[in-house]
Amino acid sequence: MTEVRKTPTIQDVARFAKVSTATVSRALSNPDRVSEGTRARVADAIRVTGYTLNQAARSLRQRTARTILVALPDIRNPFFSSILEAIEREATNRGYGVLVANLFLARAPAQRLQDYMLSNRADGLLLLDGSLEVSALQALATAPYSVPLVVACEDIPNSGFHTVLTDNVQAAERATRHLIDLGHRRIGHLLGPENNVVARDRLAGFRKALQEAEIPLRQNWLLRGNFEMESGFAAAAHLVSMQERPTAIFAANDESAIGFLSGLRQHGIECPRDISLVGFDDLGFAAHYTPPLTTMRQPREMLGRMAAEALIDLLEDVDPERGQLRIVLNSELIVRESTGRPPKDAEA
Ligand code: RIB
Repeated sequence: MTEVRKTPTIQDVARFAKVSTATVSRALSNPDRVSEGTRARVADAIRVTGYTLNQAARSLRQRTARTILVALPDIRNPFFSSILEAIEREATNRGYGVLVANLFLARAPAQRLQDYMLSNRADGLLLLDGSLEVSALQALATAPYSVPLVVACEDIPNSGFHTVLTDNVQAAERATRHLIDLGHRRIGHLLGPENNVVARDRLAGFRKALQEAEIPLRQNWLLRGNFEMESGFAAAAHLVSMQERPTAIFAANDESAIGFLSGLRQHGIECPRDISLVGFDDLGFAAHYTPPLTTMRQPREMLGRMAAEALIDLLEDVDPERGQLRIVLNSELIVRESTGRPPKDAEA
């Protein structure tokens, strides 16, 4: 006998979720009017019963807010200001508003983003934080939630999301090579946060440049940092305590580089006379510090604009045939006064 499979109905979903059909339909059309627990039960029931997923997904994201949600890892980091500005400009041009979620110290960041999206406050998500769990994001991006999602700045490798970023490995390699070309052989790296994908890529680029120049990597010249000024300041104090010091440092970003410079100055160490320093980002203050900082300029305006463009294109189904988008931009070396030749008496 052939088994005839019945198309699942809203009643099946309601039965499975142990709620009324009115609640199911409210969860689909007005998720902020049902509790989080109910929403989760209805979502599960939709998944299990196979209830017209496309219809449900469409309802769960009605796309009526004309707003995109931008999730940042740390709003205190000035790196994000011109990215945000570019995102906002592009969004405004296309008739969208911008909502910002600062995930710094958020206890359950993925849950927080899910809450935003399911309450229909935003139509799509621009994620600038690579530390979130891939499975949670994939759940958010697939039925029944089907949140349009674009990753920018911090990669989420193998996630399958549209992504816009800069090549951090190549840029770190370029920064380090600049020091090598100046004649430095004793080169250290001021690290970024341990679990940050961007920081890991910059360390990889640093290693690669040393390896290509056959310069051995000195583990004790990998100075602990976390992208923040204070960490650079502390790293300078640590460096001063060393018997053998590097003649050049590549810092994982400008903020920590500036902290490092100010720490060096406290100990009477002059840049670039005693030690050369390259930063990363080219933030506004990099050109105006003393000495002006040599750094890798990330194309922040372009990054923000292209990321917003990619998300809004997705929201508006501009190119339904488009496969996974991966835009990788290059950074540019900006040579200023914080780098020079190594001191004459420095040993190779
Ligand atoms: O993604 C975090 C950003 O903050 C990085 O690109 C880095 O440059 C830091 O400043």
